[in-house]
Amino acid sequence: MADLSTEFTGIRFENPFLLASAPPTESESNIMRAFEAGWGGVVTKTIGLHPVVNVAGPKTRFLRVDDGGTRLSMAKRPESTLMASWNWELISDKPMDWWLPRIRSIKASWPNRVLVASIMAGSGTDRELGNWQTLVEGVQDAGADAIELNFSCPHMDRVDMGSNVGKDPVLCSVSTQAVKAVAKVPVWVKLTPATANIVEEAEATFRGGADALTSSNTFPSLPLFDPETLEPEVNVDGLVSSGGLGGPAILLLSLAKMAEMTEAFPDRAFSGIGGISTFAHALNYFLLGCGTVQVATAAMLDHAIGPNVIRELNAGLAAFLDRNAERGWTRLADFRGIRRGRVVAQSAIRRPETADYRGGHEQAEDYDPPLARV
Ligand SMILES: Cc1cc2nc3c(=O)[nH]c(=O)nc-3n(C[C@H](O)[C@H](O)[C@H](O)COP(=O)(O)O)c2cc1C
Repeated sequence: MADLSTEFTGIRFENPFLLASAPPTESESNIMRAFEAGWGGVVTKTIGLHPVVNVAGPKTRFLRVDDGGTRLSMAKRPESTLMASWNWELISDKPMDWWLPRIRSIKASWPNRVLVASIMAGSGTDRELGNWQTLVEGVQDAGADAIELNFSCPHMDRVDMGSNVGKDPVLCSVSTQAVKAVAKVPVWVKLTPATANIVEEAEATFRGGADALTSSNTFPSLPLFDPETLEPEVNVDGLVSSGGLGGPAILLLSLAKMAEMTEAFPDRAFSGIGGISTFAHALNYFLLGCGTVQVATAAMLDHAIGPNVIRELNAGLAAFLDRNAERGWTRLADFRGIRRGRVVAQSAIRRPETADYRGGHEQAEDYDPPLARV
């Protein structure tokens, strides 16, 4: 029997697969079902202290492409394939007092499964830094094994929260420091992919004391306008705003962000998210150096908590270890990060060796050499 267990930020996981913070982890019953189905851990839907009121309409839709065709639409129809989820859902609309007894009872039932509490407060004032600490103390006393700071929600009803924190290295560092001052459990930080150079926010967040970084949250995006009605495919009273793209469409985008971070910080811990629905997808994050991965969209579409997804992920990892037993790989740690070095600057990729290949240009002379990658 292959050993699927792993250690990440000092916590033992029965397997490296978690449900990400999203509708699959929005309730006690969902989380209990997820553990029964075999998920190694869950990250709760993000918990905050401010009142949350979602838009008057659907919060999540799924974008599909016609099989063998080109039509892209959120209309439900047969013979189409999922490309992406799109959502403008806010964080949990349940208050902290609702969550704490439920975290306690979930942990009492499943002491060996990992419960990570996702939390969010504001920034820029001492009061908001205090709110981070109130949330940390609440969820860790209730039994959360780790905490994930949400610096990444791309659609917020407040400007001092979510990805607006994750876009500012100073806020990343200061908020993490405030959390670390009271945290007794590992602190993961979920960064936004919507920045020019995620390595800068990663560096600031590690400087603030983060034990691990998580990426990616959904990418900022707009639904399409319906070509007949000219209305946005998702709207309330004809209006739409930027929301978050998840699912297959973001797998490659998220891997690029992750590669930048794991290359810059090869000895740090990372949890990969974005577009995962099979072990073959998850493997990419492991090869780049992630120690765990998380799933949202694929689980939402599989009985709300992904029983078939986790079965395939676990079976896929077990089969991969069996296939590679001759290499001496007995667990995830044996192959984690082994392809990190394959992602290099474009200028480091070999050119054709034929001397006359210049694309019609003379050989460059008297130009400054290209700037080294920073
Ligand atoms: C409907 C919906 C709600 C989400 N809510 C949260 C949230 O409250 N906190 C959070 O950190 N991420 C949230 N996410 C982002 C997911 O955790 C995940 O980062 C993202 O969907 C990418 O993963 P995927 O491609 O597997 O969906 C949400 C995603 C969806 C689709």
